[in-house]
Amino acid sequence: MSNIKSYAERIKNFDWSISEKELGYKEGDVINIGWYCSDRICKMGKADKLALIWEGLGGIEKKYTFNDVRLKSNTIGSFLRDLGIKNGDRVCLFLDKFPELYIGFLGILKIGAIAQPLFSAFGDESLHVRLDNAETKAIITQKRHVSKVRKILDQMPYVKQIIIVDYDGRKPLREREIAFSMDEVEPVENLEIFPSKAETTSVLHYTSGTTGQPKGVKHVHYSIISQYLTTKWVLDLREDDIYWCTADPGWVTGTSYGIIGPWSLGITQCALDTGFSAGSWYKFIEKHRVTVWYSAPTAIRSLMRAGDEVVKQHNLSSLRHLASVGEPLNAEAVIWSEKVFGKPFQDNYWQTETGSIMISNYPGMKVKPGSMGKPFPGITATVLNPKTYEPWEESGKIGLISFKPGWPAMLRTYWGNEETFKTKFKNGWYISGDRARIDKDGYFWFVGRDDDVINTGGHLVSPFEVESALLEHEAVAESAVVAKPDEINMEVVKAFVHLNPGYEASPELELKIMNFIRKKLSPLAMPQEIEYVDSLPKTRSGKIMRRILHAKEWGEEIGDTSTLEDDE
Ligand code: WT7
Repeated sequence: MSNIKSYAERIKNFDWSISEKELGYKEGDVINIGWYCSDRICKMGKADKLALIWEGLGGIEKKYTFNDVRLKSNTIGSFLRDLGIKNGDRVCLFLDKFPELYIGFLGILKIGAIAQPLFSAFGDESLHVRLDNAETKAIITQKRHVSKVRKILDQMPYVKQIIIVDYDGRKPLREREIAFSMDEVEPVENLEIFPSKAETTSVLHYTSGTTGQPKGVKHVHYSIISQYLTTKWVLDLREDDIYWCTADPGWVTGTSYGIIGPWSLGITQCALDTGFSAGSWYKFIEKHRVTVWYSAPTAIRSLMRAGDEVVKQHNLSSLRHLASVGEPLNAEAVIWSEKVFGKPFQDNYWQTETGSIMISNYPGMKVKPGSMGKPFPGITATVLNPKTYEPWEESGKIGLISFKPGWPAMLRTYWGNEETFKTKFKNGWYISGDRARIDKDGYFWFVGRDDDVINTGGHLVSPFEVESALLEHEAVAESAVVAKPDEINMEVVKAFVHLNPGYEASPELELKIMNFIRKKLSPLAMPQEIEYVDSLPKTRSGKIMRRILHAKEWGEEIGDTSTLEDDE
């Protein structure tokens, strides 16, 4: 029997107090995610249970019990406090999937500071705009990434400390840098946990929109109430499970469901910090006897492409439940996973802003391949008529996916950008920015985004950010960035570029520009193709019409451009 037992029963009279009760929380109590995910689990008698099984490059393996996680997060918290970090200060985690990333996250929260995880493949410019927005006080990073921090350090007076977790003493430390190894220092048995309340800020995750700089999505400690219960009912985690969330904690899936969800339930999880290959992933599942696997469509499509033979070379019989998030999960991938693993990947939908799973397929509920499933109990979801912002009355109509505000993990604002936050609400609904249909059985079917943001392999890339970075290249006069179709990543970045006089279009220049973006922003934001153009389609007022270029890439009807010009 699954944890959720019956979806139909659970949606009747649902109340988040179910989750509060299980976590032993009452309104007005202190609620600290760092404490909940380690100290409380130890108090429940699971101190010696494995919390994290970690594998890195070269087959190195490390294991941490819940007591280790408790002590080491205490140690990190205490170290930060000694450095002068106070509650409310932003501390960035700029790390590969190191154990320090998972455990440091809890350490930051334990002292009431705000964790700001940033994807370690970010280049200096992507890093800079996000640190600037948050006025980050300390950065926890590693040798491999410190050069990117050094490059922009002069422009960041607010950064007081850069903590290097794997310093080997070979090169001298520079200004504001300090070495710290959580495995080598004396563990701190008793840390004074910051008495955070429900609305105390916990995490800032950055997400990209169509216009403007990336937005810092502000979450609070109370989010654990959503994350705990969705993990329990959607991912169906149970006492003896070995759980694997393939997401990087630089992104929200990796914190909500790669740290908070499983550890608030006291579940053993594993993490793999190596690149992707079908063989190594299956080997990892086989070796650790993974039972619940939470991944993403791009990874599943890559596995599919690697073929069925490599699946057969491994014993994957431990797998009990598979779930997927981040981008459209095509029906073929669901059907394929059922064929080769004996169970389908079950899709679910949410966003950085929602903080927890909103729409999902549940254990025991009929899967309609290609559908995202139904709203989580307690979540009021609909699709709105884009003109009136009223829910469509009949089923099957395409509308804006929207939610009634008020679930525990909902974002509280965008950091320093209350104005944009306000634009996300219409008629009492939170507007996700995605479009979908609801069928007559109440299943949601994803249609597409309602903006120009590119979703490449489950990661959002802002065309604006790429266009701005392109402009910094000496050869580029103007550009327009859109998604182009891709078999594995669904979408990849494509740039249309108009060159400055004196520059010759050539494949060498294309490579140079690509590399420029990869270094400045990230490999995800790097255009996979650059098309040189003499001019870009523009509105009368001179705005570039990305939609025309997008439609061409996808072989779609361009439609009436005069109306396009009007609403641009
Ligand atoms: C955007 C959110 C979900 C947490 C990680 C990504 C797209 C998400 C699905 C899905 C189709 C999906 C949406 C959404 N998306 N899940 N199951 N099917 N699209 O969080 O970076 O904030 O991205 O990812 O467009 O708005 P994010």
